[in-house]
Amino acid sequence: MQPRTSLASWQALIAHAKEMKQQHMSDLFKQNTQRFEQFSIKLAPFLLDYSKNLIGEQTMTKLFDLARECNIEDWREKMFSGERINTTEDRSVLHVALRNRSQSPMILDDKNINTDVQQALDQIKSFSDKIRQGLWKGYSGKRITDVVNIGVGGSNLGPQMVTEALKQYSDQSVNVHYVSNVDGTQIANVLRPLNPEKTLFIVSSKTFTTTETMTNAKTAMNWLVSSSFDESSIAKHFVAVSSNKKNATEFGIKTENIFDMWDWVGGRFSLWSAIGLPIAIDLGFDRFIELLEGAHEIDRHFVESPLEQNAPVILALLSLWNCTFLGAQSQAILPYDQSLHMLSAYLQQAEMESNGKSVNWEGEAINYPTVPSIWGELGINGQHAFYQYLHQSNNIVPADFIGSVESVTPVQGHHETLMANFFAQTQALMQGVDEQQVRTDLKAKGRRPDYIDKVAPHKVHKGNRPTNTILMKRISPRSLGSLIALYEHKIFTQGILLQICSFDQWGVELGKGLANNIQRELTKNTISQNHDSSTKGLMSYYQKSKSTKE
Ligand code: F6P
Repeated sequence: MQPRTSLASWQALIAHAKEMKQQHMSDLFKQNTQRFEQFSIKLAPFLLDYSKNLIGEQTMTKLFDLARECNIEDWREKMFSGERINTTEDRSVLHVALRNRSQSPMILDDKNINTDVQQALDQIKSFSDKIRQGLWKGYSGKRITDVVNIGVGGSNLGPQMVTEALKQYSDQSVNVHYVSNVDGTQIANVLRPLNPEKTLFIVSSKTFTTTETMTNAKTAMNWLVSSSFDESSIAKHFVAVSSNKKNATEFGIKTENIFDMWDWVGGRFSLWSAIGLPIAIDLGFDRFIELLEGAHEIDRHFVESPLEQNAPVILALLSLWNCTFLGAQSQAILPYDQSLHMLSAYLQQAEMESNGKSVNWEGEAINYPTVPSIWGELGINGQHAFYQYLHQSNNIVPADFIGSVESVTPVQGHHETLMANFFAQTQALMQGVDEQQVRTDLKAKGRRPDYIDKVAPHKVHKGNRPTNTILMKRISPRSLGSLIALYEHKIFTQGILLQICSFDQWGVELGKGLANNIQRELTKNTISQNHDSSTKGLMSYYQKSKSTKE
């Protein structure tokens, strides 16, 4: 297939990148006082300022040329109209249908799937209302006080990230907990303070085959039955969210307690479906709908705005510019809002599982750098940990700074300190400070010349480090929905620009298969001679150490 590198706009960007690498952003700001107005977008849920990137007008023109040569608008249309753009799995990609609040028809295989979506929403409403109002009773007739979501990856990160972000909106009529790790420590810690009579489990697994989730679910069932002494109690304490009804039923969950999922919703894009059940239980159904509405608002923006004003498209183009053309290898997600403390973990799966691949749609090797590794932490915590690296290492790490105009939990004197840091960091990363300035400052402080000579090089900050700033008005169900959808569409666009199949995840299968084989050996206390010497050595050490008493 025609590689992206053969496009005129791609070649123009390679040449342009060479020129731009000679520029410093602080000069670009001095030369053009309108940079902020030129390179920012104000939308209802947030402001996106991308002026602190190593870009000029020409850069953006060339990037938009590339977007057009890559037919981004056609691909967008294909996704929204239900074409099977997940080609390796032969599936449509229609998570946008889950939040289609305008009710415009979403046609899949000649059927309007809005009806299915509405039925699922009705089921979520009815169930979450019952739990929240204490109408759903456990085996001994007591109301449910605690809900434990058992799931991993997309069946965990989305709902957990959202409930953590929207804690202030929860009336705490029910406590929601999460178990994702197969390390028994997690489920043991979660269950320890809970009462089986008042605990309900949601087993969330699209495939209902994920070993970690099944293991945790079995442990939870045993925990329940060891208290109720009655297997029929499972019906009152277990529900499932899955597209594999057969496995869920065989596992022991009643058909009427299974919430449907569809193969046109990818796991990492599924929080808008019944996978979001813990969100509806924690916040109430109306808040869940607000989350969907916020996402829908960005869906409309993504579909209706010209590329030049299209926030997800711009974020995708800038990621491509920074990584593929300027050579950055990772990207930091740095929220300055405590509510978003799980955002980088969530976006790691969303972006890296989607686009962390090295062959194109036809399976041919991609021979240019693609997407960065995503990492991050709350900004303030990061400042006192790894920001040294962001400011002065030889590696340039483009970063998204995300903050809020208003705190959801205002505490006298805190927010201004937080936001002062938020603004200062992107300024420092952009401007840097050169040696001459360092020397002048040290001299002004009365430092001796030999001290200045020794210390000056260590205090130089080269600056010129790209950042995007996303400034939310306030974290709310609606604005959070918009923020998540912004990144989802960025990831989609990035995949198209790079010719990557964004909606499969074959890269996680190899390890799963090997783990299954090794687990069989560990259980039988054997070691296959087919393993490499390192794996054999490690397994042997593990097995011997287990049987040795200290
Ligand atoms: O192993 C990766 C993965 O398949 C993710 O894509 C998915 O979100 C997660 O596992 C959980 O899968 P499931 O919902 O089928 O248990």
